[in-house]
Amino acid sequence: MTHEVRAVVARQKGAPVSVETILVPDPGPGEALVRVQACGVCHTDLHYREGGINDAFPFLLGHEAAGIVESVGEGVTDVAPGDFVVLNWRAVCGTCRACSKGKPWYCFATHNATQPMTLADGTPLSPALGIGAFAEKTLVAAGQCTKVDSTASPAAAGLLGCGVMAGFGAAVNTGGVGRGDSIAVIGCGGVGMAAIAGAKVAGASRIIAVDVDERKLKWAEQFGATDTVDSSRTDAVEAIRELTGGFGADVVVDAVGRPETFKQAFYARDLAGTAVLVGVPTPDLTLDLPLLDVFGRGGALKSSWYGDCLPSRDFPALIDLYLQGRFDLGDFVTETITLDDVEAAFAKMHHGDVLRSVVVL
Ligand SMILES: NC(=O)c1ccc[n+]([C@@H]2O[C@H](COP(=O)([O-])OP(=O)(O)OC[C@H]3O[C@@H](n4cnc5c(N)ncnc54)[C@H](O)[C@@H]3O)[C@@H](O)[C@H]2O)c1
Ligand SMILES: [Zn+2]
Ligand SMILES: [Zn+2]
Repeated sequence: MTHEVRAVVARQKGAPVSVETILVPDPGPGEALVRVQACGVCHTDLHYREGGINDAFPFLLGHEAAGIVESVGEGVTDVAPGDFVVLNWRAVCGTCRACSKGKPWYCFATHNATQPMTLADGTPLSPALGIGAFAEKTLVAAGQCTKVDSTASPAAAGLLGCGVMAGFGAAVNTGGVGRGDSIAVIGCGGVGMAAIAGAKVAGASRIIAVDVDERKLKWAEQFGATDTVDSSRTDAVEAIRELTGGFGADVVVDAVGRPETFKQAFYARDLAGTAVLVGVPTPDLTLDLPLLDVFGRGGALKSSWYGDCLPSRDFPALIDLYLQGRFDLGDFVTETITLDDVEAAFAKMHHGDVLRSVVVL
């Protein structure tokens, strides 16, 4: 059976998205059909529709989602119809060179559904990050479904599927921030704010939020920032050094992804500190740094894909912290909207009015 559902599609570069009827097939071997309950609007969706990721239009947008498994295909044993799941874009293969070395969070062969979802005329859609969840139903690989405590709110839980996990993990998994450490986070959107919240959970003693938008800095204090820096008025590197005894922070997370913010992260680290790039740069950007400084400052320059998370390990754990009141996942939901409001949500995100708009179905 093919399911006709409403979904948000980006047909061409830069053009406003449209809500269309799409066709979703029943799950084949290894696949799961999920009734989407909530899906957050991430900056990466906007990157897709701007043509910043690739040119495989039309895209089926949406990838920060939670929902209920409706049916599963042959051979699926890990999830069953009725399970409450958060969708992930890292269904680890278990056999690639990263997996076989015991580092599955780097898995180089993650998989998605093999059958295409299509427009009504049969044109195949490219689902954002292999998910495509601004849709009443979506088809994914069963390994993309991570079962979590079903008492969690779908709007909050879904955010773990991308931005919040990416930010939290950038600080905690990639940056390795821990008790007593100092951290600075440049860019306090959903991703950067999650890095701040993660650093708080991990016991960092100094958490410095940096943004060019004062409103974000106010919110950052609520999520655990101990200090804030408005880098539209102040030199971020100087300010971070001043707040850390003149040395710089142990870990600096760049949650913007531009050469100027990465340079700030590079120089605002203490000697032997770690800079983590989690913001996604566009293909036109290049970095120019004195090689002697790369050598002389030591430490580590790391990229963080999806916060180096392992969905099966991290999603249930973060949901438990949320339900115990130790991690403010619900506070990332600024507003709930419908499928028809995604374009307007992009504008709000662009203007910095929201942390996350979440489509609730
Ligand atoms: N690595 C990953 O796995 C991963 C996952 C999800 C999202 N991302 C990326 O993370 C980035 C942030 O996503 P988001 O959803 O939080 O976006 P967002 O638009 O909600 O937030 C961006 C924030 O950066 C601030 N900002 C912009 N320019 C700045 C500058 N020069 N200095 C300081 N702050 C600045 C903005 O005011 C805003 O608060 C995006 O590039 C997104 O694609 C990466
Ligand atoms: Zn693998
Ligand atoms: Zn995302």
